[in-house]
Amino acid sequence: MLTIDAFVCFIKSHSLMKSTTSKSKSTSKKPSSKAANGSASKNQSQDDHSKLHKLFEEELKDIYWAEKALTKAIPKMVKKATSDELIEALEDHLEETEGHVQRCEQVFEMLGKSAQAKKCEAMDGLITEAEDIMEESDEGVMRDAGIISAAQKVEHYEIATYGTLRTFAKTLGLNDIADLLEETLIEEKNADETLTEVAESVINIKAAHADEEEHEEVEEEKAE
Ligand SMILES: [Fe+2]
Ligand SMILES: [Fe+2]
Repeated sequence: MLTIDAFVCFIKSHSLMKSTTSKSKSTSKKPSSKAANGSASKNQSQDDHSKLHKLFEEELKDIYWAEKALTKAIPKMVKKATSDELIEALEDHLEETEGHVQRCEQVFEMLGKSAQAKKCEAMDGLITEAEDIMEESDEGVMRDAGIISAAQKVEHYEIATYGTLRTFAKTLGLNDIADLLEETLIEEKNADETLTEVAESVINIKAAHADEEEHEEVEEEKAE
């Protein structure tokens, strides 16, 4: 988030710097061209604004694709999971994810554009990684741990993207859109926290099993 804020500050200061530089240069050459300088600065600012708007739309197409792909990927994780807590967390977030798809469509509508998805290579890779983990791990605690790890990577990607989109929307003065994106951002953060809680309980279960096995071995040794 800091990086994006810094980037936005850079864009703003870049425009300001260009405008100041162009003012000082032209003052020495043409003292009476204040209006022309003001216009150049305005054009530069409009140019930056429209470039940021374009970048915003591209990022929106990317996350729209990602959210739609997740509505297909999460049910596969649910099928492979064994912990009740994990299954519940995934099912709850699947419902939220369907809402995220709709929110993206709402944002496109507010922009006066038709919803368009652009393949998100990063999310595609994260989903492939999740499928590999599920295939390669033994059913039970270890597979659950793998699913949590893969799902948290997905959440972190979404958190980064929605944080960026919300900041861009605010910078562009699209406050209603920023509020909508903020709602999704909060849900992604909550999903991540829930997965951490489930991970802790899964690890606890595993530790409990390890303790049980150790205790049984000690008892067997005593009996011998
Ligand atoms: Fe999402
Ligand atoms: Fe998510």
